[in-house]
Amino acid sequence: MILGLETSCDETAAALVTADGEVRANVVASQAELHARYGGVVPEVASRRHLELVAPVVERALADAGAGLADVDAVAVTRGPGLIGALLVGLSAAKTLAWSRRLPLVPVDHLHGHVASLFLEPGSVEPPFLCLLATGGHTLLLDVQDRAGYRVVGTTLDDAAGEAFDKGARLLGLGYPGGAAIDRLARAGDPEAFSLPVARVPGFDFSFSGLKTALVYAVRALEAGELERRRADLAASYQRAIVRALVGRTRAAAEALGAQKVAVVGGVASNSELRESLADAELAPLALCTDNAAMIASAARFATAIPFPDYLALDAYASAA
Ligand SMILES: Nc1ncnc2c1ncn2[C@@H]1O[C@H](COP(=O)(O)OP(=O)(O)OP(=O)(O)O)[C@@H](O)[C@H]1O
Ligand SMILES: [Mg+2]
Repeated sequence: MILGLETSCDETAAALVTADGEVRANVVASQAELHARYGGVVPEVASRRHLELVAPVVERALADAGAGLADVDAVAVTRGPGLIGALLVGLSAAKTLAWSRRLPLVPVDHLHGHVASLFLEPGSVEPPFLCLLATGGHTLLLDVQDRAGYRVVGTTLDDAAGEAFDKGARLLGLGYPGGAAIDRLARAGDPEAFSLPVARVPGFDFSFSGLKTALVYAVRALEAGELERRRADLAASYQRAIVRALVGRTRAAAEALGAQKVAVVGGVASNSELRESLADAELAPLALCTDNAAMIASAARFATAIPFPDYLALDAYASAA
């Protein structure tokens, strides 16, 4: 059994996953409420909260699985990318747990983790496939040929899709994090009410910063009462623009690369309009879209383990080299 830890952003998470990809426990303590009053994640606040939460979250995961540390064969942990202080809390906790029982440690790339949310049972997805990874920090098109890694074929030139959702939500007064709030409000709105275009950039890349500017102007053009009345229309139109861009690029890349299968992972993969628009794709299970440790333990099954005690000097990384 693999004990996975994830602390790259504002979720403190621990999970227990078997070598076959069965999830025995998946505990996520979100700090979203703690950061909401600041309108975004405050790195130092996140690190301190991870410190308080990491031990209880691991204990809860073990209890949920009806297991003890003696049942754990390897410890997996997110090494990066993410907030460096937050990552270091998880990495130190993982090293301590592994060292105390002379277990191997498996450092996991967080983005490989998101992809590996597709490799858990039931319904594990078999590569090769083209994967749209859309999160708060990344928007990537990945060529996934096997379970051990991926090749980047497209990325965002500015904002990530989740970041665009969060910034849009802020402009519409919906609070942080805003993706799910826009998703909910959009259901009551007309997606064709406002024309909010998304820039078309060359190749398989994305760009969302212009869309955010278009929303700023659309909001400014409305009086306060009018804005209140049109809020759902704005949310629906904004969401439609993001989803169109994601779906358009993904389908074009799939065709150009001859991909037989398309998959979608990451927090934005929980968006209902995106899921409907790509209903023929392999969609990560809702519970595994936003950050969790089950996906980290899943990725560890296909990554290189470091034997005891060679990992003690291992460092985290904030961004991919
Ligand atoms: N229903 C939804 N519709 C659109 N966006 C959503 C929805 N639910 C969550 N999101 C967005 O998903 C993002 C969080 O996803 P996730 O936890 O995968 O990202 P992250 O871990 O912060 O980023 P990264 O993995 O790149 O470090 C937020 O930007 C949030 O607004
Ligand atoms: Mg993430």
